Amino acid sequence: PRTIYITRHGESELNMQQRIGGDPPLSVRGRVYADALAQYVAKGNQNFLFLIKSVNRDYILENIPDLIVWTSQMQRTIQTAAKINAPKEQWKALNEINAGICEGLTYLEIAERFPEEFASRDQSKYFYRYPGGESYQDLVARLEPVIMELERAENVLVVCHQAVARCILAYFLDKNADDLPYTKVPLHTLIKLTPLAYGCKLEYVPLHV
Ligand code: G3H
Repeated sequence: PRTIYITRHGESELNMQQRIGGDPPLSVRGRVYADALAQYVAKGNQNFLFLIKSVNRDYILENIPDLIVWTSQMQRTIQTAAKINAPKEQWKALNEINAGICEGLTYLEIAERFPEEFASRDQSKYFYRYPGGESYQDLVARLEPVIMELERAENVLVVCHQAVARCILAYFLDKNADDLPYTKVPLHTLIKLTPLAYGCKLEYVPLHV
């Protein structure tokens, strides 16, 4: 069976300051994750090649599991995928949820400057739309074409963002709108989703950086 790999970008400079949104580059640690990810993917491919090679050489040429890598159009996902030796495609639809007037703020600053917004998001996180930005519900709609392609694709690695990863996981794991925005998607961890006849197998591979 094919596998869908999902990861958040490596730690960014704004993650370090606990700020949301923006288009920051990776931090030093984030760049270490980018290296670790490239190595992990390369190692996986070599092991596979080695196994097949010992069976039948012709088979190799046709059956290498062609990994393709999808990123958003934000610097932090492009930098995270940069060293992976595989074809890449950028999707604007994979960009992080747009936090509108809250872009670039910490959660503490949001609570201080926009207490009513902060409270209403807490009350209904899936449906809450940031003024000038998006809700998780909007994000699910924006991701529909990505999900359709994911259904058709073979082995794909999606390098995306926390809110985006939550929506993709919710689709494949049948999560409801209440749980979706609270799904844990740790940094520096590769998530493997293997669709089976009934449901999906889920594995977390933390890459120690
Ligand atoms: O910047 C957005 C975060 O990745 C999403 O986190 O929806 O829990 O605030 P949140």
